[in-house]
Amino acid sequence: MSLSPGFVLAPSLLSADFADLAGAIRAVEEGEAGALHLDVMDGHFVPNITFGPALVKAVRARTRLPLDIHLMITDPLRYIRDFAQAGGDTLAFHLESSSDPHQVLERIRAEGKRPGIALRPKTPLSAMEPFLSDVDEVLVMTVEPGFSGQLFHPEVVPKIAQARKALDGLGSQATLSVDGGVTPETIGPAARAGANFFVCGNAVFSPDHSPQEGLARLREGYRKAMDGALR
Ligand code: DX5
Ligand code: ZN
Repeated sequence: MSLSPGFVLAPSLLSADFADLAGAIRAVEEGEAGALHLDVMDGHFVPNITFGPALVKAVRARTRLPLDIHLMITDPLRYIRDFAQAGGDTLAFHLESSSDPHQVLERIRAEGKRPGIALRPKTPLSAMEPFLSDVDEVLVMTVEPGFSGQLFHPEVVPKIAQARKALDGLGSQATLSVDGGVTPETIGPAARAGANFFVCGNAVFSPDHSPQEGLARLREGYRKAMDGALR
């Protein structure tokens, strides 16, 4: 079976060697990644601190892959322009981080970018229903935001299925992303629930194999799960 249209593996640079990001980008391009995922953390909305627009700009200069920017920051509105001008393609902010999500969505559109909303594992889909028809990405987190290398929370899978149903009901073409603990094993349940965009950190950047091999294993896990679903 061929991979479904819209299927994307998006390596998260958070798990790469920060001293050799150019090498990491080259490797995942060779491994046929469909996008890059960049985790922006401010030490406030989440306990960890990563990077800001300057790094996004440097990455933009090195690749033509779409950049999926995951904003784990307080007051995202304040930084939308900076991340848009740095070269992000999709800007996803956390529903829990904004008092006025409509305004943030509008700002992202006004910058000519694809708006997305991310949900922590415990935030129900119902919380974003008023915004569902206005987004180009729903990013369902399957770990608590903050760190790579955590274990996938299987109890979030029904929320992915709910999001798929809701998006299809609206006739929306929005990307349904899953982020956190995606491996060749956990990609199956997420894909069968209807996700089509898979963020992958430690499953790609690992001391055990090359990024190309990591991506091939994820693709194989996806294929197996979807073949099984069709039988
Ligand atoms: C966690 C980040 C994820 C993370 C993914 O807060 O949003 O994107 O880097 O890494 P893995 O796949 O290792 O969980
Ligand atoms: Zn992320």
